[in-house]
Amino acid sequence: MIVTGDIVEVRQIRWADPTGHWGLVPTMGYLHEGHLSLVRRAKEENGYTAVTIFVNPTQFAPTEDLSSYPRNLERDLALLAAEEVDLVFTPADAIMYPPDFQTTVTVGQVSKPLEGTSRPTHFQGVATVVAKLFNIIQPTRAYFGQKDAQQTVVLRQMVRDLNFNVEMIICPTVREADGLAMSSRNAYLTPEQRQAATVLYRALTAASNAYAQGERSGGRLRQIMSTTVATEPLARLDYASAADPLTLQELEQVESGVLFSLAVFFGKTRLIDNMVIA
Ligand code: PAF
Repeated sequence: MIVTGDIVEVRQIRWADPTGHWGLVPTMGYLHEGHLSLVRRAKEENGYTAVTIFVNPTQFAPTEDLSSYPRNLERDLALLAAEEVDLVFTPADAIMYPPDFQTTVTVGQVSKPLEGTSRPTHFQGVATVVAKLFNIIQPTRAYFGQKDAQQTVVLRQMVRDLNFNVEMIICPTVREADGLAMSSRNAYLTPEQRQAATVLYRALTAASNAYAQGERSGGRLRQIMSTTVATEPLARLDYASAADPLTLQELEQVESGVLFSLAVFFGKTRLIDNMVIA
């Protein structure tokens, strides 16, 4: 496994076998089973696998958790070595964003609702860094988790709009035994908050059960999620959404598919989760 922060070296390794297929797993590190499930899928489907570890400053607002975002490079590299990853790209901030950096990627409509309302600059940071990583590594396929549902919609839109020659593979959310979606931010939770955080999964399950029993009113489905979250004293709801899975617009009436999604605060920690009904 080669670990480097150098773009020229990455390109040399990437193109050493010009006919080889590369799977890319972009991450911000502090790896968990969710990330490793992406790595394993990438390894199954490609001759070579690259992982990037970069806590991207441009996707954090000044009020957010950039400085406290959990990091453990040594442990991450040991996990990736055990998976027999070929290449790990660990660039410094100044490599990705040199002092004269001045170009950004803004994806339109699908960036605006949900996470975009609470985090208006977030997806510009995500789209810009992922565009750069795609250009640096030029993967055949790129692997993202369904846990960040809106991120997958935004990045698919970017790939279509800017004609990136990358196949986007979206992999299922990996959950703890009690349903909590795996996330590096779970590390911030106190033991009491960690217990309370199962309310996201409970709320999503309540909405999808109501849907299975015939409920089609978007308003009532959102209400079911918000009243479930309200039963948990340590939880503070940011949003509960029942939206079109492609446009992310809120649905009044669910006719075909629906994306149930939630953002909930536990103290300062903000967790997101979702379920898609096809
Ligand atoms: O999902 C993440 O961890 C990040 O948003 C990503 C895609 C690695 C970009 O920084």
